[in-house]
Amino acid sequence: MSDRAHKIMLPKERAARPTSSRARAAEGIVIRDAEQVVTLSPDRGRPLRGAEMRELGIQTDASVLIAGGRIQRVGRYEDLMRGRSEREYEVIDAAGKIVMPGFVDPHTHLVFAGQRASELSWKVEGASYLEIAERGGGIQRTVRETRAASESELIHQAGGRLDQMLLNGTTTIEAKSGYGLTTVDEIKMLTAAKNLDKRHPVDIVRTFLGAHAFPEEYAEDRDGYISLLEEEMIPAAAKAGLAEFCDVFCEEGYFTPEESIRILEKGQTFGLKSKIHADEFTSSGGARVAAEVGAITADHLLRTSEEDMVRMAESGVVAVLLPAVPLLSMEERFANARRMIEMEIPVAIASDLNPNCWVTSMQTVISLACYKMRMTPEEAIAASTINAAYALGRGGKIGSLDVGKVADVLVLDIPDYLHIPYKFDGNCVETVIKNGEIIHKRES
Ligand code: NIG
Ligand code: FE
Repeated sequence: MSDRAHKIMLPKERAARPTSSRARAAEGIVIRDAEQVVTLSPDRGRPLRGAEMRELGIQTDASVLIAGGRIQRVGRYEDLMRGRSEREYEVIDAAGKIVMPGFVDPHTHLVFAGQRASELSWKVEGASYLEIAERGGGIQRTVRETRAASESELIHQAGGRLDQMLLNGTTTIEAKSGYGLTTVDEIKMLTAAKNLDKRHPVDIVRTFLGAHAFPEEYAEDRDGYISLLEEEMIPAAAKAGLAEFCDVFCEEGYFTPEESIRILEKGQTFGLKSKIHADEFTSSGGARVAAEVGAITADHLLRTSEEDMVRMAESGVVAVLLPAVPLLSMEERFANARRMIEMEIPVAIASDLNPNCWVTSMQTVISLACYKMRMTPEEAIAASTINAAYALGRGGKIGSLDVGKVADVLVLDIPDYLHIPYKFDGNCVETVIKNGEIIHKRES
């Protein structure tokens, strides 16, 4: 099957160059007279915490000047254009609309083969995530399908999902391996993500998640699989430059806190920064592990104890909350975002796109963060932009409209940012600018 069947997939090199003849002649882009420019500025050199998460740096009746792929200025149109000729710029009229940074999705399992739609009937009958796994569904089913797929098939399937993410305003994502669980298949997944990144405008940050589950052939030999991770898989992924982060599913039935520490520390010796799936089904100690190994993020956190939250706050771990997961797993409990924000833990949100949670829109995730975790709209927007960028170690580069940052910018056809969570099922994104180029413009 061709891996080029996507609407948006195009080489990054092409995406980085002007696409229309008008744009080719242009010095850059000016987005003029927006109702609100949600800047998320000033960048503090760290993620936003506590009450800071409500400060969106909004400018009203404002314009944004983009050139050389970067944000040049934000302010009144007349001030921006003084000494410049409008004819030399591609002008986007944003009257009555809002402008904001592209969404960053810091936790996804973008690359996998197949789907698991049939598990919904088990969920409806009351089966838990672990019971679905015991019935032959869950991660192991996707492992079988992913092992059977070629790299180009994986690119084709993941590319379709990535197109949807871009149409919904996401400009950078993280993508994990973890459905191969052999050296060859994990490398295949990471290579698929790398090659998809080269040919798609959305940037993909890669994470090695060989410790996502014990593969069936190692079910009786946990130590054997951990040795394989430590001695073969982590070195192979790191030496080939295929991953920037190492992640572990620290959970009852998966990896213990002790095993997680071993794996994450091994990753660190190969230069891989740590992330962890923590406290999703039980208070498994994952958040504590994150604090102990100096992880950049701990993710899920539905059942993190007060004590472990204190440890996270002290060590500056970013909490990545995934509100679509409990919703689509028919789980009553959501992460305690309010308590985490109160404790000044920096909070980011993410889709966790995976076969159990097929969500490609950060607008939907923002809505769920508000309606199910009682985050304010302001906090949810900060969590999906600047804090999500810090969750990927890219806060200095993306996530806000600070002058000099990469111009990943959205125009949304709404008069106020409050409409993002309010219009629950809508896609408000009208224009997507990536690296200073217009990648998508919805016909109105
Ligand atoms: O983040 N919890 C573990 N991993 C994924 C789910 C993977 C799957 O069910 O395929 C998650 O939710
Ligand atoms: Fe996950």
